[in-house]
This record gives sequence, C-alpha cells and structure tokens, in this order.
Amino acid sequence: MTKKFSLPRGTADILPDETPLWRDIEDKARKIFAIYGYQEIRTPVFEETALFTRSLGETSDVVQKQMLNLEKEGLALRPEGTASIVRSYIENNLDKKERLSKLYYIGSMFRGERPQKGRLRQFHQIGVEAIGPNSSLPYLDAEVIILAVNLLKSFGLNDFKLKINTLGSPEDKENFSKILRGELKNKSAHLCEDCQNRLERNVFRILDCKNEQCKKIVGELKIGSSYLSEASKTYFKNVKDALEFSSVAYEESSQLVRGLDYYTHTVFEISSPSLGSQDALGAGGRYNNLVSQLGGPEVDGIGFAMGVERILLALSQDPSFVKASLNCLILSLDEASLLRAFQILSILRSAGISSDMSHRFGSMKNQMSFADKIGARYVMILGEDEAKKGTVTLKNMATREQNEIKASADNLTEVIKILKEE
Ligand code: HAM
Repeated sequence: MTKKFSLPRGTADILPDETPLWRDIEDKARKIFAIYGYQEIRTPVFEETALFTRSLGETSDVVQKQMLNLEKEGLALRPEGTASIVRSYIENNLDKKERLSKLYYIGSMFRGERPQKGRLRQFHQIGVEAIGPNSSLPYLDAEVIILAVNLLKSFGLNDFKLKINTLGSPEDKENFSKILRGELKNKSAHLCEDCQNRLERNVFRILDCKNEQCKKIVGELKIGSSYLSEASKTYFKNVKDALEFSSVAYEESSQLVRGLDYYTHTVFEISSPSLGSQDALGAGGRYNNLVSQLGGPEVDGIGFAMGVERILLALSQDPSFVKASLNCLILSLDEASLLRAFQILSILRSAGISSDMSHRFGSMKNQMSFADKIGARYVMILGEDEAKKGTVTLKNMATREQNEIKASADNLTEVIKILKEE
C-alpha cells in the first residue's frame, strides 16, 4: 500500500475553518503595531548553530536537549507548499468534506540554493491550490491563471509576461520525454555535464537549463504537439479560449515544462522583465496524479505560487511605487515639549492614526532628516512657541507646506481631521 504521510510530531495543520481566527488576531496585532509605529522584522527560521550555543549557553537545556536536529529527525524544511497541502488534504479527508477545496497559503519556504539577486535560501510564497474529485475542467485552469494575473495587478504590477503550455496526460508526458530524448541523444556531447545526466533521469529539465550552449540546442528543437492525445489538445484549447474570452494576454511556449515532477496538462509561468536572470514572479500548473501518488483518493489539483521577494523587487523598480509609512511623526524642539508630545501621541493612536514621536529633543535639522528617512506623511513640530500659543505646527512632507493649528492635549479635532484625509 502507498505510504500516507502524517503531520510531523508536535505540529498542527491550521485548517480553513480555523484560519479566520488566526487572521483576525494577526490583522489586529498588525493594526495596533502600525498605530504605535512598530515595524515588522522577519528573520530566517534557521541560523548557524553556534549563534544559539554562544547566546543561550553550551550547557543550557535548549542547546543540549531541545534544539531540533532536522537530519536526525528525518525532517526537512519545506521547499514549496503544494506537497504539504496535498499531505494535509489527504490526512484530513478534505475530499469527503467538500467537492472542491480552494485553499491559499502565505509563508516561508526553504531551498539550499546558491543565493543571488531574487534567489534566496529562505523566501516567501503566496500560493493557491484547488483540489477536488473530477475537478479537471479547463475553466478551473483558466480561473487559477486569471487569479494569478489579477493578484499581481492588485499589487500594482502590470509589466509581466504570462507563458503557458501543456504537458498532457501522464501518458502524453511519457511520449513527450521519449521524443525529447530521441531528439537530444545525438546532440548529447554538446550539452553541459548536468544536462548529459538529465538526459536519462529527467529530460524535461534540459529545456530550462540556463547554459548558453544548451539553450541554443533547445532553441533549435522542433517539439510541436505530436506527443499530445486529441483529448489533451482539446482540453488545452479550451483553457486558451477561456483566457482569450477574459482578455488575458498569454504566450504559448512549448519549452515551458517546469522543474517539478508532479505536473500534468496545463503549466504556466509569469515573469517580469525588470528582474534579471531570476525573472519568474510565480508559476504553477495542474497535478492530477499527485494526490493518489501520495496515498490519497483519485482527485485532481491545480495551483500556483508567487515569490513575495520577487514581487517586491519588481515593485521597487517601478517609480510610482509608494512605500507604506507612518502617518505622523511628532518632533520636540525642547525637553518640556516631550510630555506634550507623549500626551498628543496617545490621543492620535486612540483615534487609529499611525503615529510616533521622536524619543529625543533638539535640532530640527537632524530630526527632519529622520522623518524623511522613514517616509512620514506629516511631521508635527512642538516647541516653546507652540506650547505658549496652544498650537502645533503640522508639516506635509510631500508638499513641504507648513501650518500652525490650534490644538491642546484634549482638543485635537482639527489635527485629526487633517491626518485622516487621504
Ligand atoms: P516554483 O516555480 O518552484 O513552484 O516556485 C514558485 C515561485 O516561488 C517562483 O516563481 C519564484 O517567484 C519563487 N521562488 C522559488 N524559489 C525561490 C528562491 N530560492 N528564492 C526566491 N523566490 C523563489 C512551486 O513552488 C510550486 N509549488 C508552485 C505550484 C503550486 N504549482 C502548483 N501549485
């Protein structure tokens, strides 16, 4: 019998009926942190072992007995999300609960890669998986691809290219690999060492090798669609028609095969011209055999994952991208104004305005450059003058326009109105 995989000991799947609670807590915490001017920091989930030995102590229980040694435990940090989600789908019998499970995930993934721009050892993916019995319908493939495109657009990205292809059924895929092997066999001496090995083990990987000589050989291949059955051709045509109907621009690429074994039928990749050599923003495809291969029922699946770091890199190349920042930073010119700043700050935060105070006083020049650096929308200046007149000076950092406004610790209506304007 096929081995079914279980949750690693001491861990839990957080299933869709529980995640709203988690989200609620996370959203609330993020809101409060923003109001208090705290910024999020995320560090990798792995570090050099010595960092912990030196900080926590060689003889501490944590170091001696409790540090998880992944290799010893037969565990691996997840390199992607699909396999884990399929394991969870099977273990929780989701096929008995709903006809089609439409799941999404946001989280860190780990790959032992040689790092370079856009390629990390811990990175983050936003992904979806739609899994269910008899869910192989071209409209679901189209829906998933359109969702990926619209997700990128909602992030403010518009300059990207969608490539699609079909690998066909598992039998078609086998045909495809035979044809490829046949075409490449007499050219094998000119392939790179890796590709010479791939020829027998996984010939598809040769199609996306980055070596110039291999790329040239691949470019000259005439793959066509002879490996596809009529049913697979019709399926793919329906996917393409649905994309065209939805005005989603795509390019068909017979060289797009994707590097993971589980794919069948539709595969796709979205790339950005601003990313250099690691240009894939996201990718995905259908995997109709994976669930049964892992010991689950005969159900089909399709999904994609986007790399969050790459989305951010692409956005940072776009001059119109505005970094989220603090709404108001309060600066105190003298020590006496610190107390006033503290009182005003607590009222602004209660009103839901993301704000902070500079926890020091003195020269405007230094404090202003700090406000510029963190990208505060407004700066509120408090000095002896303002305290005497019962005012605050509010400076709009984009227009550099500055106004003195009547304000006291118990009446900030005017200030709040300005800060809440879009
Ligand atoms: P993948 O193509 O291996 O597919 O990864 C998807 C995306 O994750 C890539 O397009 C890229 O943006 C990002 N990514 C991958 N590796 C790295 C890395 N080392 N550093 C930074 N970003 C990276 C999958 O993972 C499949 N599970 C997608 C899928 C879901 N297929 C079906 N369902």
